[in-house]
Amino acid sequence: MTKRVFSGAQPSGDMHLGNYLGAFRNWVRLQDDYECIYCVVDMHAITVWQDPAILVQQTREAAAAYIASGVDPKKSILFNQSRVPGHAELAWIFNCVARLGWLNRMTQFKDKAGKNRERVSTGLYVYPNLMAADILLYKATHVPVGEDQKQHLELTRDIAQKFNTDFGVELFPITEPIIMGEGARIMSLRDGTKKMSKSDPSDMSRLNLNDDTDTLAQKIRKAKTDGDLLPAKASLLEGRPEAQNLVGIYAALMDQSRDTVCAEFEGKGFGDFKKALTEVVVTKLAPITEEMKRLQADTAYIDSILKDGAARAQAIAAPILMDVKKAVGYLV
Ligand code: TYM
Repeated sequence: MTKRVFSGAQPSGDMHLGNYLGAFRNWVRLQDDYECIYCVVDMHAITVWQDPAILVQQTREAAAAYIASGVDPKKSILFNQSRVPGHAELAWIFNCVARLGWLNRMTQFKDKAGKNRERVSTGLYVYPNLMAADILLYKATHVPVGEDQKQHLELTRDIAQKFNTDFGVELFPITEPIIMGEGARIMSLRDGTKKMSKSDPSDMSRLNLNDDTDTLAQKIRKAKTDGDLLPAKASLLEGRPEAQNLVGIYAALMDQSRDTVCAEFEGKGFGDFKKALTEVVVTKLAPITEEMKRLQADTAYIDSILKDGAARAQAIAAPILMDVKKAVGYLV
């Protein structure tokens, strides 16, 4: 079977360091060994309200972020989800395969809906079925994501298995998640127990890929920490979530282990550490920010990449979707 990667991010806000370290950077690393499909999931984005004019811009911005991070649109397929109707068609079939009890266990829905459960869109509830459709529409075998998506990928495996069993076919692969390294779980700069997220109301909680150098420096300076010094080993950071997070970010950006970072900064306070961290963050992100700006100024280029990518994605999806429709018993 073709080793095929599928992954995506929602254009529902500015892309941030968590997206880069948990996802984009790893997508780039997989391009040489897999056939890769990277999607801007605009259909997922509208599960919560998006201003239409802003959604268009953010879809382009997401594509620019992928490319600026190193996704090569010649090697990999890059497109926006709504352009390939098979995502919606397969999601409907999966709405009829997945069980209510499965969706009721999804922690991301519970977090996002919060106390507003009765007022969120029904799309938000069936979101994980659409995500399974994204992946299985291409029979993707591997899905690189941050740790927060793990439960959704388990559901994708359950859906694939149930579909195959119910219809007596060997159609869908059982997809493997790829969750890589120190960057898999980057936390908020304001609260080390919450993940860094586009939907956090405080912009100070995240480092955005389009932040300028001064903003990045200010956000790191103001990041919450404790008064203790850095210990000799990462295990001694236990119970200090903010300290753990900043050391984790440094480690991920430098491709080092947390232990190596602790050994280097042992006995130093967070004043010193934050200066070193700022330098690393700025060195790594500034070229990406710059490239994103350049790409976003050329909307015709971005639009042509996404359109061409959608045609290539459609060509892979069409025969798979036809097999699915036949398996289900649609008259085709
Ligand atoms: P989204 O848009 O929230 O995030 C995109 C990618 O970034 C990762 N990520 C993080 N990694 C580490 N630390 C963080 N704080 C952090 N925040 C986000 C996410 O794990 C993700 O890999 N449901 C998905 C989008 C999606 C998808 C798919 C992914 C739709 N269909 C099919 C894979 C395959 C989401 O909301 O990601």
